[in-house]
Amino acid sequence: MFLDKLKNFKSYKTETTPCRVKLSSNENPFELSDRLKERIKEEVGKIPFNRYPDPTYRQLKESVAEFYGVQPENIVLGNGSDELIHILITVIGDLSRPVMYPVPTFPMYQVSADILGRPKVEFPLDEDFQLRKESIDSALEKKPQIAFFASPNNPTGNSFDSELIRYTADSGVFTVVDEAYIDFSDKKDFVEEALDSRTNIVVLRTMSKIGLAGIRLGVMIADSKTASLIDRVRPPFNITYPTDVIGRIVLTEGKEEIKQQVEKIILERKRIMNAVRQIKGVKVYPSDANFFLIKVPDGNKVHRMLIEEGVLVRNMSHLPNMENCLRISVGKPEENDIFIKALEKVLNAL
Ligand SMILES: Cc1ncc(COP(=O)(O)O)c(C=O)c1O
Repeated sequence: MFLDKLKNFKSYKTETTPCRVKLSSNENPFELSDRLKERIKEEVGKIPFNRYPDPTYRQLKESVAEFYGVQPENIVLGNGSDELIHILITVIGDLSRPVMYPVPTFPMYQVSADILGRPKVEFPLDEDFQLRKESIDSALEKKPQIAFFASPNNPTGNSFDSELIRYTADSGVFTVVDEAYIDFSDKKDFVEEALDSRTNIVVLRTMSKIGLAGIRLGVMIADSKTASLIDRVRPPFNITYPTDVIGRIVLTEGKEEIKQQVEKIILERKRIMNAVRQIKGVKVYPSDANFFLIKVPDGNKVHRMLIEEGVLVRNMSHLPNMENCLRISVGKPEENDIFIKALEKVLNAL
């Protein structure tokens, strides 16, 4: 009885079919270096596991702040940015007033709103997956109090028009710019706006896309007043002791390594996108992220046949305006070669 409302609840689904090549979760395909792993082993070995971590995460916040060029008081830490998304949807404004976001986009905005029973205003992207002012205006008529813009957007890969993001914030909506993939883009971020209390804008970042999906560390960047208020509702020990320790090591001693991996991923993205463009019957969408989207003649079938070839990509065919679309995360060069060959083979066999 108490849980009846969850009977039809659709939780967030990921692709889990075991495959030789996994290009389905937008992770960084490269592992940390042995040098960093040794440092981590050394420091994790010193953790008093019977104790709680520092609830203020002072040292971790300092490392994160330095990594992003902001101050520790501008930071709220989350157990992944998923947790921060949920906290924001819980505390911003009145739960009876809607959350707005474009579709298709990252599903957690919808999932969190549904858990809380908060109304949603979903508005469509255009055929190039861009924001349209008319759609934003119609959404604003429903009086939302919080908006999410993933830019670069997942699963489409493109960045949004920053003027339209600012326009939404200027219309009096608390605006979250989710920059999970910004490291792979040359577009300007929203950090400056997020630090300015007059803008209604905050930024989300995550360590998951740059090599630390396993430790669950998300970051909100905001002006100090907004950050300190939201920090009050964060569960007291939401970051585990190991994450605290590993995060600090990687963000300080591993900075250069992450930068080099990101550069490699961007180069690989360009290389595979060019190769896939040569394959007949495939449309390749532009990308500012560590993944890209393609359209094929029969998405479900190609997805299945790629699995038979040992390659797992994300099937997006079920989403609005994404019929026959597949999302491909950039892998290691050798994995990408296997993907390109498999895609050629599958399309020839269709
Ligand atoms: C746009 C976007 N935001 C947030 C996240 C969640 O990241 P995290 O692993 O930090 O929870 C993802 C993960 O895929 C994402 O695509």
